[in-house]
Amino acid sequence: MTDINIKPGMRESATFDRNTIAEIQRAAETGIYDIRGFGAKRKVPHFDDLLFLGASMSRYPLEGYREKCNTSVTLGTRFAKKPIVIETPVTIAGMSFGALSANAKEALGRGASAVGTSTTTGDGGMTPEERGQSSKLVYQYLPSRYGMNPDDLRKADAIEVVLGQGAKPGGGGMLLGQKITDRVAMMRTLPKGVDQRSACRHPDWTGPDDLAIKIQELREITDWLVPIYIKVGATRTYYDVKLAVKAGADVIVVDGMQGGTAATQDVFIEHVGIPTLAAIPQAVQALQEMGMHRKVQLIVSGGIRNGADVAKCMALGADAVAIGTAALIALGCNHPKWQSEYEKIGSAAGFYDDYHEGKDPAGISTQDPDLMQRLDPIEGGRRIANYLRVLTLEAQTLARACGKNDLRHLEPEDLVALTVEAAAMARVPLAGTQWIPGQSF
Ligand SMILES: Cc1cc2nc3c(=O)[nH]c(=O)nc-3n(C[C@H](O)[C@H](O)[C@H](O)COP(=O)(O)O)c2cc1C
Repeated sequence: MTDINIKPGMRESATFDRNTIAEIQRAAETGIYDIRGFGAKRKVPHFDDLLFLGASMSRYPLEGYREKCNTSVTLGTRFAKKPIVIETPVTIAGMSFGALSANAKEALGRGASAVGTSTTTGDGGMTPEERGQSSKLVYQYLPSRYGMNPDDLRKADAIEVVLGQGAKPGGGGMLLGQKITDRVAMMRTLPKGVDQRSACRHPDWTGPDDLAIKIQELREITDWLVPIYIKVGATRTYYDVKLAVKAGADVIVVDGMQGGTAATQDVFIEHVGIPTLAAIPQAVQALQEMGMHRKVQLIVSGGIRNGADVAKCMALGADAVAIGTAALIALGCNHPKWQSEYEKIGSAAGFYDDYHEGKDPAGISTQDPDLMQRLDPIEGGRRIANYLRVLTLEAQTLARACGKNDLRHLEPEDLVALTVEAAAMARVPLAGTQWIPGQSF
């Protein structure tokens, strides 16, 4: 947005602010709704609204440089013969080949493998580069079935049945024709250069009972070896988690409304779903009531950026987290070194969200052969591994300060909230009080 000289007396409307006015004018000019990538940009109650109560007298902290704090987690302990052990509870979320370049997918696999965690395929199938470089690869089974291949199901270390995403619960996706190269088209068995819609619901089921049948089918295909995850966008999380457990899930992934996307209508990204913070306690309550907390593992995603966010998710009861947007940023998305290139396509470093256009100067969300070459998968993998190590170390530091020798020993009791909204959603007391809105008086 151009800088303007605001003089005393000029009042900007809170309702019709500059962004709102620009969007109305854009809509009036083009007649099309805005599609973009990235996650929700509006401010909602978030992990920043929570604080840890570090140990002092009533609790005993652990010494950071000498005393161990375990970070490994086993996922899929309910039914799978071969659960996945990850060395850090931070996993890489499913992001499609098509939305992302093959080099980006490979870099994510390399980075995750270097620190002993998992990465995930996405819409559009599994690439050999990604499988080859990922020691623990979760294969997504999506409503679109693009790139779905039973042989690939058997090559996976876990299967994630996607029912929805936090950025667009109830909605589908769109991959614009400019990103459908020969290779993307071949993997999806659809024509090159033509926009591809990803469906919002699975073609062969109409309700939770069909999900149980689908899980059974997937277990038979994979000989009951690998864990089956169910991924839902956060909305009616309490009920969705109960239904997923009943259908036979080993692991449940809950993706909050801040979760990133490759391409979705802005109106969806900003107006559908509930914040990640609000979803976690609902999921945990559902699991606890069924006696399944920690037996069916909970992975949380949507807006996770640093080790504090990771530790807060764990304290609220998650077993692990998944990251998408932050991983792309770690790879170099929105890096200032591409500022002049972002300007040429009408954006700026820190603001770029038109992943669907396929013009990403950083070579990440593109299929353009020249742009793609800008991302070296080995260097990208190194950056992802570094970033994952920092997240893990930060989370460990906070856990030790709370006296915990395992990240999973963090608990809601270690947290307080800075705002009434966050206290109500996270179900922890407002700082300095015993007050959890809606629970205690
Ligand atoms: C570029 C991009 C592509 C994505 N593709 C998929 C996908 O194919 N399947 C899926 O379930 N989620 C997809 N997601 C959502 C992520 O799996 C994850 O839920 C979300 O990014 C987590 O939120 P975060 O970005 O704030 O970390 C995508 C996200 C991004 C940013």
